[in-house]
Amino acid sequence: MSGTVYVVGNFKGGVGKTKTVTMLAYESAVFLKEKTLVIDMDPQGNATRVLAKTGNLDTIDKSITDGFQNESLEKEIISVMDNLHMIPANTSFRNLPKLLFNMFPDDELSQISYLKKLIEPLKKKYDRIYIDVPPTISDYSDNAMIAADYCIIVLQTQELSLDGAQTYIAYMQFLSENYDAQLQVLGIIPMMLRQGGRVDTKVLDQAKDMYGGNVLNTIVNYQERLKVFDVEGIHMHKNINGKVEMWDAKAHKLFIEVLEELNEHEKYLEKL
Ligand SMILES: Nc1ncnc2c1ncn2[C@@H]1O[C@H](COP(=O)(O)OP(=O)(O)OP(=O)(O)O)[C@@H](O)[C@H]1O
Ligand SMILES: [Mg+2]
Repeated sequence: MSGTVYVVGNFKGGVGKTKTVTMLAYESAVFLKEKTLVIDMDPQGNATRVLAKTGNLDTIDKSITDGFQNESLEKEIISVMDNLHMIPANTSFRNLPKLLFNMFPDDELSQISYLKKLIEPLKKKYDRIYIDVPPTISDYSDNAMIAADYCIIVLQTQELSLDGAQTYIAYMQFLSENYDAQLQVLGIIPMMLRQGGRVDTKVLDQAKDMYGGNVLNTIVNYQERLKVFDVEGIHMHKNINGKVEMWDAKAHKLFIEVLEELNEHEKYLEKL
């Protein structure tokens, strides 16, 4: 097995990166039954909290910070549920820049390639590895981009702005040219996070003009249930007839569609 590594990006806060990582990882594990790992690279630990609730985990005694310090991530893996594991983050990870600087003084390439090195042995154990990052150009996002095979870009269609996504793509090209990053754009997901909002078709058309077939046909709309998953963890409750409850089913169907479309893109890119 050699797992594929994905990072979900946009250099803007609150656009749905963590939602995308946690939902895609859940569908990958539950719907595709692939062995899936989430690596939380955000000291805010949002993905960690959602997945801890998803797996009803009370205490989390591992952390990516320890893995970075001990030069191995394997002992920091926690099982969330069947096929779904995570490497959790907490605020102790805020000192990553200092840690990297002390480990590799004056060696910028080693500093930003450290996650790639640590991920290598994990690829043998997982089909898919999803990395969640904070919305900044930083050691966190650099390490994730260098380690990834593909980036999935979140595009906010309501903001009349492609800014965060555009900056991300430009920065990805910069890393490829200057630091030999290998990652390719797998897809651009149109996201509409305001309740009752309409998709800004102008922004969407503009994005399609610029990025063509990279833009997914599936649009992630606002769903209250997706917000509820932040508080309750991701779930798929059944009703008394044994069917998945309607709003749960709707939320999962949406991200299964996103996952399937991204898989189509991946097959296409592999053939090139
Ligand atoms: N499709 C959706 N429908 C409803 N709420 C959503 C949807 N997607 C995301 N949200 C909510 O929007 C908020 C921001 O989402 P999320 O945390 O995924 O963004 P982010 O890009 O990871 O933010 P940060 O930059 O802070 O890491 C969260 O409260 C989340 O529950
Ligand atoms: Mg986030």
